[in-house]
Amino acid sequence: MTKGTGQGIGRRGDRDLKVRVKTAKGRKIGSTLWLQRQLNDPYVARARTDGYRSRAAYKLKELDERYHLFKKGQRIVDLGAAPGGWSLVAAPIVGSTETAPLIVGIDYLEMDPIPGVILLKKDFTDEDAPDQLIAALGGHKPDVVMSDMAAPTTGHRATDHLRIIALVELAADFAVQVLAPGGTFIAKVFQGGTEHELLALLKRHFATTLHAKPKASRADSAETYLVARGFKGDQHDE
Ligand SMILES: C[S@@+](CC[C@H](N)C(=O)[O-])C[C@H]1O[C@@H](n2cnc3c(N)ncnc32)[C@H](O)[C@@H]1O
Repeated sequence: MTKGTGQGIGRRGDRDLKVRVKTAKGRKIGSTLWLQRQLNDPYVARARTDGYRSRAAYKLKELDERYHLFKKGQRIVDLGAAPGGWSLVAAPIVGSTETAPLIVGIDYLEMDPIPGVILLKKDFTDEDAPDQLIAALGGHKPDVVMSDMAAPTTGHRATDHLRIIALVELAADFAVQVLAPGGTFIAKVFQGGTEHELLALLKRHFATTLHAKPKASRADSAETYLVARGFKGDQHDE
């Protein structure tokens, strides 16, 4: 029996097991809570030892284990790639190497290089971003477009929500324009939003669509992942 349990489960026991962060002068309560959660998060610790750079890597790993998303030789576009967790998970599965890269990632944040992954430091909403992504793949159509993009929150719920939806819709539009037939679109979405139009678009263009909430995704987060598979190819209806 641990010291904490001996003294009764609950607030006291919890306190003994977890790292608590004091609210430093000038640090907002929100940042303190975030830091405390990071320090106590088993996925954050695992990501460090596994060399994945982000806890987000485990969400994609879990989705791949569940749905077998990636296959050898596939080309991938990684939208919102920084710090690189998703690309690091996918690269060995598809067999992307420095001499024959199969993955291109884009983010407006700086990223450390990833062997076998071409990284563009660029805003995906820039007009020339789609062309640059496809050019980086040597003009080939990708088999998978995956987006973990999330804009920094403003604290204003309605604004944040609209920005999130705009990014997902842009990613979906890009996917239906560039994917190879049979291709897959994976995207982070947030529950409780105007997703109907997006779902309708995906249902028209893909054989199957599903929502999945990986265990690595925090239970208190509204985020979930959309997986659309079996891209039907050009529909000429938009
Ligand atoms: C949750 S993180 C991605 C984590 C990544 N999947 C991983 O495993 O390391 C979301 C990323 O989306 C990026 N992002 C948001 N909006 C973007 C945009 N318009 N263009 C490019 N990147 C964007 C952010 O800079 C951030 O790095």
